[in-house]
Formats: sequence, C-alpha cells, structure tokens
Amino acid sequence: MTRAQLDRRPADVAAMFDRTAHRYDVVNDVLSLGQDRLWRRAVARAVGAAGGGRVLDLAAGTGTSARAFAAAGATCVACDFSLGMLREGMRRHRGVASGSAGVSFIAGDALALPFRDASFDAVTISFGLRNVSDPLAALAELRRVTRRGGRLVVCEFSHVRPRPADLLYQRYLRRVLPLIAGLVSSNPDAYAYLAESIMDWPEQAEVARLLRAAGWSAVRWRNLSFGIVALHGGVNDGAGPASRGSGDSRDSLTSPAAAPGW
Ligand SMILES: C[S@@+](CC[C@H](N)C(=O)[O-])C[C@H]1O[C@@H](n2cnc3c(N)ncnc32)[C@H](O)[C@@H]1O
Repeated sequence: MTRAQLDRRPADVAAMFDRTAHRYDVVNDVLSLGQDRLWRRAVARAVGAAGGGRVLDLAAGTGTSARAFAAAGATCVACDFSLGMLREGMRRHRGVASGSAGVSFIAGDALALPFRDASFDAVTISFGLRNVSDPLAALAELRRVTRRGGRLVVCEFSHVRPRPADLLYQRYLRRVLPLIAGLVSSNPDAYAYLAESIMDWPEQAEVARLLRAAGWSAVRWRNLSFGIVALHGGVNDGAGPASRGSGDSRDSLTSPAAAPGW
C-alpha cells in the first residue's frame, strides 16, 4: 500500500491541509509554473459562473476558485473539512474588495454535506476528489445537493497524453517535484503525498465511469495542459441513483453539459 492510500484517512488529510494552509496557494503557483491560474479560469468557464446562480465549491481549500466564481457573478459556498484552509481563506477574503463578496465559507465533509437536496445550480470540486476517502460516495453526495438539470465540474490532476510523455511526467513527479517542494514548502511530506496520489489516481476514462456510477449523466471530459489536469463534467438529469451508462462523450459540443466553457 502506498503512502497516498494510507494517508487518505480523513483526519490525516484534514490535518495535512491544516499544516499547509498558510503557503498553499504560493506553493501551487510555483510548482505549476502559474498554470494553476489557467486551470482555474477553465473551471470557472465550465461551471458557467458568469451566468450567476448558486455554486458549491467542495474541498474549496482557501477558496481561490470560489472567489473567481463569485467575481464572475455566482453566489458561491466554499466548503471544506480543513478548518485551517477555511480560516486562511476567510482571512484573505476579508481583505478583498467587494467584487468577490458572494462567498460563504462552510465547514463540511464531502461524504455528508451539510446542505439540503437540490440546493445548488452547479457543484464543483478542484484538486479535491483525489483526496477524499470514498470518491464515489462524494460524487453521489454532490449529485444529491444539485438541482435537476444542474451541472458538475471536477478538476483534477490526471494522466498526460501521449502515454510516453506520461512516463516522463511520472519521473518528474517522483524525483523533481519533491526536491522543489523541499525548497519552497515547510511541509515537503505533503508534496510527496501529492506526487503519489496523482500517480494512484485513475485515468480520464475511469474517472468518467465513476461519475456515471454516481448517477451523473452526459458525462464528458477535456484535458488541460496535455492531461496534467482533466476537467470532467456531468449533468444531474434527476433520474434514479445510477445513470444508464451511455451518453458520455469526449469534447462533444452537443451534450447538455455544454456550458460555454466546454
Ligand atoms: C489540494 S486541496 C484543493 C483546494 C482547492 N479546491 C484548490 O483548488 O486549491 C484539497 C482540499 O480537499 C479537502 N478535502 C479532502 N477531503 C475532504 C472531505 N472529505 N471533505 C471536505 N474537504 C475535503 C482538503 O481539506 C483540502 O483543502
């Protein structure tokens, strides 16, 4: 069993993020060479935040994405079970101008969300699903709190294409990323976990299957930065718990999930 699997125990994961909260966003910027900002913009477009509505940003961390959704026009709830990350997010939020006023920070567990059924027009989770102890249960819980016709966007590290490039990328994850993290982070262990959890995470098609198994329909995905990150999307068609297993597409323009950002 790898460290990533061992450490996905909820209390360990929350404690690890509590410890990294202070420098979390800076280290992200450094390790991704600023790409994380592009990824977040793509998520905001896919969520359709500019159209307004109520958006849940689950595993929101310090609320970096949530602030972008709110700035685009949505009312956003940023939910996370790491109080350290939420506190850091609220501290920064207080210092921000009124343009991103529409964010509430709420403590909650992805596996038992503190929201009523059908409370949100769109739900999203960035770099969080990989850390949840039961991703399928979290996806089903996300669907429960989404209104009929509402949309899911998952942004997660993924697998680089073409495949030979993925081998190079895995080398970078194993050897280089922990070295850089050792220089810029006070908690390099968290970044060893990051590398292992990315390599453990299933490929794009498998994640799409997970969404369908949780009942999402019109499932689709799109690679960003050659697959370093993938966006997966789905729609809550209001049918029973598991969907029919068809109708997912890759880069299709006809899916009901087709917000302008897709
Ligand atoms: C890598 S951070 C991502 C934060 C933010 N979404 C972002 O894009 O920067 C992962 C977050 O998932 C949260 N998390 C992991 N498991 C969770 C769970 N079961 N319920 C709520 N939050 C969870 C962690 O506390 C952490 O803040």
